[in-house]
Amino acid sequence: MTDQKHLAQIGVVGLAVMGSNIARNFARHGHTVAVYNRSPERTDALIADHGDEGTFLPAKTIEEFVSSLQRPRRALIMVQAGKATDAVIGQLADAMKEGDIIIDGGNSLYTDTIRREAEMRARGLHFVGAGISGGEEGALNGPAIMPGGPAESYESLGPLLESIAAEVDGVPCCTHIGPDGAGHFVKMVHNGIEYADMQVIGEAYHLLRYAAGMEPKEIAGVFREWNTGDLNSYLVEITAEVLDQVDAETGRPLIDVIVDAAGQKGTGRWTVKAALDLGIPVTAIGEAVFARALSGARAQRSATTGVLPSGTIAGPVSADERERFVEDVRRALYASKLVAYAQGFDEIRAGSEEHGWNVDPRDLATIWRGGCIIRATFLNRIRDAYDADPDIQSLLLDSYFTGEMVDLVDSWRRVVINATRQGLPVPVFASSLSYYDSLRAERLPAALIQGQRDYFGAHTYERTDRPGHFHTEWSGDRSEVQA
Ligand code: 6PG
Repeated sequence: MTDQKHLAQIGVVGLAVMGSNIARNFARHGHTVAVYNRSPERTDALIADHGDEGTFLPAKTIEEFVSSLQRPRRALIMVQAGKATDAVIGQLADAMKEGDIIIDGGNSLYTDTIRREAEMRARGLHFVGAGISGGEEGALNGPAIMPGGPAESYESLGPLLESIAAEVDGVPCCTHIGPDGAGHFVKMVHNGIEYADMQVIGEAYHLLRYAAGMEPKEIAGVFREWNTGDLNSYLVEITAEVLDQVDAETGRPLIDVIVDAAGQKGTGRWTVKAALDLGIPVTAIGEAVFARALSGARAQRSATTGVLPSGTIAGPVSADERERFVEDVRRALYASKLVAYAQGFDEIRAGSEEHGWNVDPRDLATIWRGGCIIRATFLNRIRDAYDADPDIQSLLLDSYFTGEMVDLVDSWRRVVINATRQGLPVPVFASSLSYYDSLRAERLPAALIQGQRDYFGAHTYERTDRPGHFHTEWSGDRSEVQA
């Protein structure tokens, strides 16, 4: 029998930057790590450049890799989501034995994870779809990890993952999220929130720049200041860094040299598609995804810029008003961000109910406080909100957030009005305010929509004063009948 002591506690397949950083993170935490990459150059480079950071067992074939792992074998796949992931899963499964664990650490679509988990279960293997957030730096120094899959596999896998995760107040940013696709589902929504968060920060920057006429360096200072308060977060912190950067070649602010067309790899779009299927209005995330798409429609934009009439445009914010305007923008950003998070958590609750995952939103508010891209101090408030009422209808109803809204909402309205008058786009600020006003409205125009549906399609409507479904004989004598 092989001497288990000399085998690896974990293995990593796929040694591009994320994979090799995760492998190094495991090694630095004293774990023996088996490593394998399809092209051996990457494996060689990892060992040559970082082999002294811990104990690595480099393998030339997937079989050699699998046989260098302790039982139950734990193999973390860090390759491109999609076909490449399926191919590696197939190879690992062929070489593995009952009870072994395959972990997919990529940004896989959660429905793929559900399928793969069922396939592996049928072969007696455990499959864990784990969302990993934090980018390259996080992978090396402490990411947030969202593992799904069987609770049983977490018993052997959890301590390993927790050992390399970020920590906040001594709590690791890693916990078992729920069965099969739960981990990748919440990572997907995490990314959707990330899109909204980045977009609202972008809208705030845009207003300070073009409504208030401030320069990037000055705005960097504003974000730095905001980062000391309610908005304290990784994304606000790096925003100041980006805005401060000067392009070495031209001497101009780097932000002015970067093409204003945002890329996207798909997780934001998936969040919106899943929300549409679940019937959850994630308007902030949706607008953020569409804003990226619109920014990328370069041919359409260049055809319309300067051609579509703007109407009368108000002048810029005056020097006297600037201080108040900056504070209004901060509040609009905070309020819109609250909406985005509230909607994201709504989607997670709905997804969890739909799939029977039993995801605890409090866990997410806890593990997202560190390591991940949306890490932010205010996640503590979200955790408190779920502590106070685990079944709260909307995070916005939590007394702390409702209290915040008292202070935020007037500023938010002023900012949206101001942006509109200046012809500056604020899709997430504006749509989030509409969402907020829709939520709090006593009546919505949906009554009219029901009337119209009944008119052209006899789809029936409910009445406010008694139960049942009703139809008006629109093309007859217009009397009402109970359906
Ligand atoms: C993370 C990030 C990471 C990646 C996104 C970016 O949590 O570490 O979300 O997963 O940066 O995939 O996605 P886009 O390329 O779509 O912006």
